Amino acid sequence: MDVIEAIEKRRSIRQYKPDPIPEAVLEQVLSAVRLAPSGKNYQPWKFIVVRDAEMKKEIAAACSWYTPFDRAVAQDWVADAPVIVVACGHIKEAAVKYYEDERVIIARRATADKEGASPADYESTLPMDLAIALDHLTLAAVEHGLGTCWVAGLDEQKLKALLKIPEDVWAPVVMPLGYPVSWPNATKRKPLEEIIAYETYGVTT
Ligand SMILES: Cc1cc2nc3c(=O)[nH]c(=O)nc-3n(C[C@H](O)[C@H](O)[C@H](O)COP(=O)(O)O)c2cc1C
Repeated sequence: MDVIEAIEKRRSIRQYKPDPIPEAVLEQVLSAVRLAPSGKNYQPWKFIVVRDAEMKKEIAAACSWYTPFDRAVAQDWVADAPVIVVACGHIKEAAVKYYEDERVIIARRATADKEGASPADYESTLPMDLAIALDHLTLAAVEHGLGTCWVAGLDEQKLKALLKIPEDVWAPVVMPLGYPVSWPNATKRKPLEEIIAYETYGVTT
């Protein structure tokens, strides 16, 4: 399967077969995560692979949330996947960009802290780093007939307590991984002419 095929086939999968994932397949999928690029190649991440049934249930319970209109959204289906990958980002290990004396500084967050730069606003590459790594996961999964779903609707504090994730680690998303019951139809996307601009932001032809 080529990359374009995998991109076109990927879907958010919310129903999983109980079939286990062979070790060799799991390793290949995780290896794709490892190869992801990151800001300054700091690789400020760790991915927890959860297979224990009770722990998966607890994680799924932490993945319930409310709309602003008080509608509860449970995501119990998360526990049905044979594997849940929990993405963790080391806040102090990621590259950050900030402005100081009219200069753009790029450094490790920890380095910047130590040097007392104390910039008011860091722009961390961490969200990008984690997203790329997980996108590698979603696409490598497709190659092996596996489905995934980004699940960011979760209670991060509960998740961190469950998995003993340190305070200075960010855990914004979990990703169930398993064989789909079926491949849903593609969801809609905006047309290309609406989202692509040429040369400057406003020119779209
Ligand atoms: C950052 C992010 C967070 C998401 N969080 C959830 C979630 O908590 N629960 C869920 O069911 N889907 C979640 N999704 C999946 C999106 O709803 C889905 O990607 C989108 O509707 C497009 O559908 P597709 O992935 O099948 O193309 C999330 C997707 C992204 C990228």
